[in-house]
Amino acid sequence: MYHSQIKGLGKYVPENVVTNHDLEKIMETSNDWIVERTGIQERRHIEPGDDNSTAVMGCKAAKQALERAKVDKDDVDLIVFATLSPDYYFPGCGVQVQEMLDIDTCPALDVRNQCSGFIYGLSVADQFIKTGMYKTVLLIGSENHSGGLDMTTRGRNVSVIFGDGAGAAVLQRTEDHDHAVLSTHLHSQGKFAKELSLVSPSTEHWVDDIIEEAPQENPDYYPYMNGQLVFKNAVVRFSEVIMEGLQTNQLSPKDVDLFIAHQANLRIAQFIQKKFNWSDDQVYNNIQKYGNTTAASIPIALTEAWEKGKVKSGDHVVLSAFGSGFTWGSAIMKW
Ligand code: UT7
Repeated sequence: MYHSQIKGLGKYVPENVVTNHDLEKIMETSNDWIVERTGIQERRHIEPGDDNSTAVMGCKAAKQALERAKVDKDDVDLIVFATLSPDYYFPGCGVQVQEMLDIDTCPALDVRNQCSGFIYGLSVADQFIKTGMYKTVLLIGSENHSGGLDMTTRGRNVSVIFGDGAGAAVLQRTEDHDHAVLSTHLHSQGKFAKELSLVSPSTEHWVDDIIEEAPQENPDYYPYMNGQLVFKNAVVRFSEVIMEGLQTNQLSPKDVDLFIAHQANLRIAQFIQKKFNWSDDQVYNNIQKYGNTTAASIPIALTEAWEKGKVKSGDHVVLSAFGSGFTWGSAIMKW
């Protein structure tokens, strides 16, 4: 029986730190509001003119993950790239990273599941490895949010939350079930598609409209979020899908050594922590420093937790996400 094991982790965040106080200077908001409602103190934004993009940041994280896994880029059988902010409308960032890594040919797949993108990508990687089709999968989550946010008071309920960055994992085939991904669980509910969305530009609102409508004036050209509805659904779905994963593996919440939630809002993560009665040692959050980096948030947090020695061999690690779609999911691993 084949299983998949994370062999290496990497992350990259832009150097440019944007604090809540920086945001106070450009919109009507306050450090107190942002910290109290979200836990965020600062986030990273790509600086105009630097060489970063979603694909470039993803590639930087991928290189670190490959190096730490001691895996040669030519041994990668499949690239899976999760993002909601690709460099181009098409092709996806997966093929861009392939070119940047100088991999001649291999399949490259982009996953469009927003905040749940890394969990969906992990599940895709795991299935390909379990079937025996591929041995080594490079999984990346990366976002350049800052290029598309409404940085005026009108967009403050969204723009103060999101940050840029990338994380990556190298997964490889193993026959050792005791150090592997145990299961993944995926869900979506399309009736809420527009409640957290960016509907333009799109094939419904094409280029002529953009030019005529002066995009900066039209809120449709910026992400929309029904924050309270998203929050209410998030706390329910997070709990359900974590329980689903634990029950599948006959585990109880007390068996969990480390829980990492998609870093959407510190209040959501704290709600889940309390519900499962986990101590601070069993949970890792870093939204305070990076904001919500969507598909990148779990791999950035997992990499950071691993760098700090918080992930040890034999640990039960639980990952979970909820977001736009709505989509949600969990992954249960034994490290
Ligand atoms: O990663 C994808 C998943 N995303 C999430 O899980 C996000 C879930 N939702 C949330 O985290 C929260 O809903 C937010 C943090 C987005 C907003 O917090 P909230 O407590 O739900 O605030 P609200 O939207 O109900 O707004 C409360 C007040 C409003 O003012 P009034 O109408 O009461 O006068 C807003 O206009 O706060 C105002 N407000 C702000 N004030 C200062 C909204 N954004 C800001 C801001 N600074 N940035």
